[in-house]
Amino acid sequence: METVTLGKTGIAVPPIGIGTWAWGDNLFWSYGKDYDATELKNAFQTAIESGMTLFDTAEIYGFGESERLLGQFIQQAKPLGDVPVAIATKYFPLPWRFNADAVSDALTKSLKRLQLPTVTLYQVHWPFDFFMGQTTLMQALADEVQQGRIQAIGVSNYSAAQMRHAHQLLADRGIPLAVNQVQYSLLARQIERNGVAAAAQELGITLLAYSPLAQGLLTGKYRADRAITPTGARQLSPQFSPKGLDKLEPLLNLLQSLGEQYDRTPAQVALNWLIAQGNVIPIPGAKNADQVRQNAGAIGWRLAAAEVEQLAALSGS
Ligand SMILES: NC(=O)c1ccc[n+]([C@@H]2O[C@H](COP(=O)([O-])OP(=O)(O)OC[C@H]3O[C@@H](n4cnc5c(N)ncnc54)[C@H](OP(=O)(O)O)[C@@H]3O)[C@@H](O)[C@H]2O)c1
Repeated sequence: METVTLGKTGIAVPPIGIGTWAWGDNLFWSYGKDYDATELKNAFQTAIESGMTLFDTAEIYGFGESERLLGQFIQQAKPLGDVPVAIATKYFPLPWRFNADAVSDALTKSLKRLQLPTVTLYQVHWPFDFFMGQTTLMQALADEVQQGRIQAIGVSNYSAAQMRHAHQLLADRGIPLAVNQVQYSLLARQIERNGVAAAAQELGITLLAYSPLAQGLLTGKYRADRAITPTGARQLSPQFSPKGLDKLEPLLNLLQSLGEQYDRTPAQVALNWLIAQGNVIPIPGAKNADQVRQNAGAIGWRLAAAEVEQLAALSGS
């Protein structure tokens, strides 16, 4: 599989990753009810076989269960040889975490659950400051890079100004800010207007696009006729209501017809559109081997420039 680098770190990863928020989570998703660890293990195995070796997780996903499952799957795959995974996990800036030791302790716990000595990427989940402040936080992360427990540092949900500040604090230590993980899809294009995409491009920071399929909406399987209804908390979202889905019909039809031209699915077209923006790595969530296989097919081909424009014009948000 082709690779891209994480910002200016020189670390090579696949151009598309796998999101694992749903792995072990039964607050928003319905882990244990609609899918289980066996399906997730198959998803992991298929991902490794397809070269999709970048996994995004977080200490809070399933209260640690996402990291725990990833750790188990890596260990179980080991007898077959080296498992070439790049794990991107996240630190949550809780109010009572107010000094550098708290960062170090959180990382120790994540590494224990993942059963790994080091992670490729460690991201600050939200730009909350509380009592610690960004300077202490970035210094603590830089120390962990120097100790080798983190290979690269990222942030998530940071505005352009917050991202610039974090970038500067790390630059003072000679360490690049590798990524800003933000919501980005055909249905969530705020970063194109609020300066985040432009600042990331200027500073050489890669964008990891979360919810790149708008939590399943852009797969085209949820339609206004309600033949299939979403599981978990999505049932409460107005976007998944018949009225919300009705509004999406023109875009879903275009994804479908472009997909037919390339022998691809709407989800693959939606992910390919994100990659076409440049400097973006989508991290679609996958709950089973089929979804992993399908999402792997989002790369290795390219929408024409006019088609990228056509999708942008129709999505309009
Ligand atoms: N940093 C942050 O604050 C933040 C926030 C949100 C997410 N994230 C990260 O981003 C990742 C992805 O975001 P997300 O899970 O919110 O949304 P998403 O990737 O847009 O949608 C994922 C969901 O779409 C469906 N799906 C995926 N591939 C499919 C396919 N090929 N065909 C049909 N259905 C498919 C699955 O749900 P169903 O099969 O049930 O429809 C899946 O759970 C997360 O796992 C997490 O790692 C980060």
